[in-house]
Amino acid sequence: MTTLKVNGVEHRVDLPDDTPLLWVLRDEMELTGTKFGCGMGLCGACTVHVDGAPMRACQLPLSAVDNKNVTTIEGLGKPAEMHVVQLAWQKESVPQCGYCQSGQIMSAAALLRNKHNPSDADIDAAMSGNICRCGTYDRIRQAIHTAAAMLRTGEKA
Ligand code: FES
Ligand code: FES
Repeated sequence: MTTLKVNGVEHRVDLPDDTPLLWVLRDEMELTGTKFGCGMGLCGACTVHVDGAPMRACQLPLSAVDNKNVTTIEGLGKPAEMHVVQLAWQKESVPQCGYCQSGQIMSAAALLRNKHNPSDADIDAAMSGNICRCGTYDRIRQAIHTAAAMLRTGEKA
């Protein structure tokens, strides 16, 4: 039995210890905002936060999140109170097909938690593991700068 908090709600999960967290989130908890891409830790589509750090849910066995706090895109912000990264994403019209975007947003949110004024190099380093087949990289970088500026000025929309 594994006990974990997901988006602030405690869950007790009775599945094999090696079940990937991504399966648990999507199939057991119906949190389908976290996407399955490669299943090999290579694309970043499944990025969630574990105790605040960006992690690939497809590569995390359930045993690795026992007694941990997991945040998915569903828990990052709410429609009425969106996370600053989500607001910036809207402002810059970042998504194309959208499939990679929840993972991109989770990685960007983790970056901004630690660096309030990231350089292009900081952004490229933090986001290098998040692949976008639609090539939205320029808009992602711009949106991260926009979110950082919004955080600095206290602007929310
Ligand atoms: S699905 Fe997890 S990194 Fe690609
Ligand atoms: S927006 Fe389509 S894969 Fe990134």
